[in-house]
Amino acid sequence: MVLKTGQSFAGGKLIKVVFPQTNIILKRQRVRVVSGSVLLREYGCQMSFRNNWEPEGVFVCLWPLNPFVMNVQQSYNLWSAQYDTNKNRTRDLEARVLRSTLQNIPVNNCLEIGCGTGKNTEWLVSQAARVTAVDLSEGMLDVARSKIASARVEFRQADITQDWDFGAGDYDLVTFSLVLEHIEHLEPVFREAAQALVPGGYVYVGELHPFKQYTGTKARFDTEQGRQEVPCFNHHISDFLQAAEVNGLELVQLEEHFDDDDRTTIPRVVTFLMRKR
Ligand SMILES: C[S@@+](CC[C@H](N)C(=O)[O-])C[C@H]1O[C@@H](n2cnc3c(N)ncnc32)[C@H](O)[C@@H]1O
Repeated sequence: MVLKTGQSFAGGKLIKVVFPQTNIILKRQRVRVVSGSVLLREYGCQMSFRNNWEPEGVFVCLWPLNPFVMNVQQSYNLWSAQYDTNKNRTRDLEARVLRSTLQNIPVNNCLEIGCGTGKNTEWLVSQAARVTAVDLSEGMLDVARSKIASARVEFRQADITQDWDFGAGDYDLVTFSLVLEHIEHLEPVFREAAQALVPGGYVYVGELHPFKQYTGTKARFDTEQGRQEVPCFNHHISDFLQAAEVNGLELVQLEEHFDDDDRTTIPRVVTFLMRKR
């Protein structure tokens, strides 16, 4: 079968495409032939095949992996312009459960990790005397800064996979909202969080539930070039618990949260509340 320029293929058959640089294998992609090569719309990637068309074959990418495959920082810089206005059930549910989980916990000094556009910063500063709000993406931070003008909030640009310099033993609450799915290794991050806390201080984690991840849900947004997926890692419930335990953080509460409170469905968000011994 040879497709002609502009012709679409909806992906009924298995199409196996291997990127030799990464061993990424794409299956059942929608493809469009452009002058003998194929545009993989999802990845904005143009590829040329050894033969014109090999529907069951293994195709080799002759171009370097395309510039539209972005790292986490680039992705959020781009997403920042539409993050607040996109429909996003995970973002909205996590906002609600953070507030209900933390509403009765007295907080003086809060460290918010992965503050993004400030969805939770606004509420945290209403509860705490001071908030240090950290994020990797200047684009996300710019939106947050434009919304929150409080002198009690300090925004910091930093990569939390590097050593933290936000202050040791200074905080009575460290929060992570929808950020740990972008972090490959949990243990060093929990170690830094534990060091940032006073004894008896709390860690709050609100994440996309791993069950959702197992079914393929991940952070993504649409651009004119196609859908952009943000690099993500799956962490199992036990991974969070073990990373906390080895760093002296005791589990206080673990809750699962469902769309429309419907407990017959797969939970969307998991929250952990932990306390430093
Ligand atoms: C899905 S957004 C969540 C933003 C906000 N917490 C919320 O719930 O709306 C994830 C955020 O984590 C940030 N992030 C990802 N990796 C990070 C890293 N290594 N260091 C600091 N921030 C990071 C991203 O820049 C992004 O703003």
